Amino acid sequence: MEPQRKRLNRRGLLGAAGGVAALGAAGAGAAALAGGPDGPAPEAAPATTVPFHGAHQAGITGDAPSRTVLLSLDLGEEVDADRFAAVMRLLTDDAARLTQGEAALADADPELAAEPALLTVTFGFGLGLLERLGLPAPPGAGPLPAFSVDRLEEAWSGGDLLVQVCGEGDLAVSHAIRMLVKDSRSFATVRWAQRGFRQRPAGGGTPRNVLGQVDGTSNPDPSTGDGGEAVWLGEDAGPLAGGTVMVVRRMRTDLDEWDKLDAVGKDRVIGRRVSDGAPLTGEREDDPVDLEAREDSGLPVIPAGAHVRRAIDAGTTILRRSYNYDDGPGPAGESDTGLVFVSYQADIGQFIAIQERLAESDLLNDYAVPIGSAVFVLPPGCDEDGWIGQGLFD
Ligand code: HEM
Repeated sequence: MEPQRKRLNRRGLLGAAGGVAALGAAGAGAAALAGGPDGPAPEAAPATTVPFHGAHQAGITGDAPSRTVLLSLDLGEEVDADRFAAVMRLLTDDAARLTQGEAALADADPELAAEPALLTVTFGFGLGLLERLGLPAPPGAGPLPAFSVDRLEEAWSGGDLLVQVCGEGDLAVSHAIRMLVKDSRSFATVRWAQRGFRQRPAGGGTPRNVLGQVDGTSNPDPSTGDGGEAVWLGEDAGPLAGGTVMVVRRMRTDLDEWDKLDAVGKDRVIGRRVSDGAPLTGEREDDPVDLEAREDSGLPVIPAGAHVRRAIDAGTTILRRSYNYDDGPGPAGESDTGLVFVSYQADIGQFIAIQERLAESDLLNDYAVPIGSAVFVLPPGCDEDGWIGQGLFD
């Protein structure tokens, strides 16, 4: 927390307020700065920085901000373990500074670093890279099998080094990417970049995805002590304990097909109402999903192929933190939308169990297809004297 306080002192309340104004509806507590001569006393300025240092890397748990850029880099063949360690030291230093509103070393436009707007930078290592460099992978990591629904494109798959940048400010995210890529150029090429957005409802609550569904309701939140064992690598992961295994799936959605469904049909695909996210067996979004409930006809209220039934039947949990993408429209007006689906789990087997159930049968498969896939091992966080991944080299 220390870097955050320092930052707020240096810029002063005015500067912090300016940063928060840029957060928009998703900036928690932005309204707390209000208070005229007769209004309530102003409260402390909401944070504009997320601490970089800690037991876990930032950018995994807690409320996801409205923007993400995921960069997958391929390292040159000449990069050995020593060089890679030096690279991670440099990139960690960049990330630690930029996320706290300070310019990176040799930043040509330091002003662009001044408003981090909840910027986070998170690093992950591809399985192929760990193997090539002779670095240990945790027992919970492994490749994904081919799933019957996959229509994977090389252009959106794989990679050696994952850099996930999230935040509320487009400019801060863009500047961070610019600096991190600049410092990676001499040893890596960009394999793919995926940009995503989320929009939290003005009154708070769960955001919607590009299909209009309330998406993210049933999700563990290790930042509040719920579900950490499902997400964080345990002691058997040695130097990677406190890290996690990340899956990125680019899911292209077919909005033209989706538009052919009426409201009841759309609700049945998920097993929850599009209007308010409540399960078909309940009234409110947080009501439990009752998979046993039956219509008078004897048919299940939540259809056999409903997305949530299939996912729940897998009997395991993952932390989902997906974003929407919209790279359209194309020249003929065709849409190019979908989800940059992201999940974090302690063991890749958790994701595989759910994805296998979904691939077998899921009404959503007619409207969403995986076109990209990648797995990364995210090391734990580090303290101010350390760097991300350090334990692997000690
Ligand atoms: C475009 C692709 C997808 C869309 C649009 C989508 C949408 C949704 C929606 C609307 C819900 C219900 C609300 C919620 O609890 O968040 C949900 C739940 C869920 N989805 Fe997906 N999903 C997609 C892909 C996936 C994938 C690839 C997986 C994992 C392999 C997955 C796993 C889950 C799980 C575990 C739940 C929670 C089930 C529960 O406990 O109730 N989803 N999804």
